[in-house]
Amino acid sequence: PVQALIVLVIGYFLGSLPFGYLITRFSGLGDIRKMGSGNIGATNVLRTGKRHLAALTLLLDALKATFAVIICARLYGTDAGLLAGAAAFIGHLFPVWLGFKGGKGVATYIGVLLGVAPAAVLIFAFVWLLIARLSRYSSLSALVATLVIPVALWIMDQPQASLVMAVLTIISWWRHKTNIERLIAGTESRIGDKG
Ligand code: G3P
Repeated sequence: PVQALIVLVIGYFLGSLPFGYLITRFSGLGDIRKMGSGNIGATNVLRTGKRHLAALTLLLDALKATFAVIICARLYGTDAGLLAGAAAFIGHLFPVWLGFKGGKGVATYIGVLLGVAPAAVLIFAFVWLLIARLSRYSSLSALVATLVIPVALWIMDQPQASLVMAVLTIISWWRHKTNIERLIAGTESRIGDKG
C-alpha cells in the first residue's frame, strides 16, 4: 500500500507538469488556455504557428509519462510501472497547478505506451498518421489510434497493458467530447488551420 501510494504520487506529479502551458507562457506567447481550442496540448500549441514549440510540447508531455513508468517499474516492478503511467495520465488531465483543468491526454497516452509497450507506439504512430493524412483532424486521428491500441496490445499478448490502456482510451474519449461534437457537426478545425 505504501509502495502503491509512492507510485501514485510520482506518477501524478510528473504527469501534472503542464508543458504546453509552460512552454507557451515562457516563450512569451501568453496563456494557451485563452487561444484556439483552449486546450494545453501540442495540437493547440501548433495553432500558434510555432511548430517547434508544438513538437516540444508533444515530446515532453509524452516523456514525462514514460519517465514515470520507467522509474516505478525499476523501483517496484512492471505492475507499478503501469500504475505510474495511469497516474501520470490522470495528472496530465487534472493538474493541481491549473485548477485541475488539464489536457486531453493524447501525448501522455503515447508516453505511457512508450514505457509499457514500446513496439505499440509504432502502431499508434502509423494509425495516427494515416487518419491525419486522410482527414487532417488531429482529434479524429487520436480517437482512432487510441481505439486501436488496446486491441493491438491484446493481440500482442499483453492483456494487462491492454486493459490499462483501454481505461485511458475511455477517459481520453470522454475528454474529447467537444471535439467529437464538432467532428459530427463538421466544424472541427483541421491541422494547419489557425482557429
Ligand atoms: O487529439 C488532439 C486533441 O488533443 C485535440 O486538441 O486543441 O484540437 O482540442 P484540440
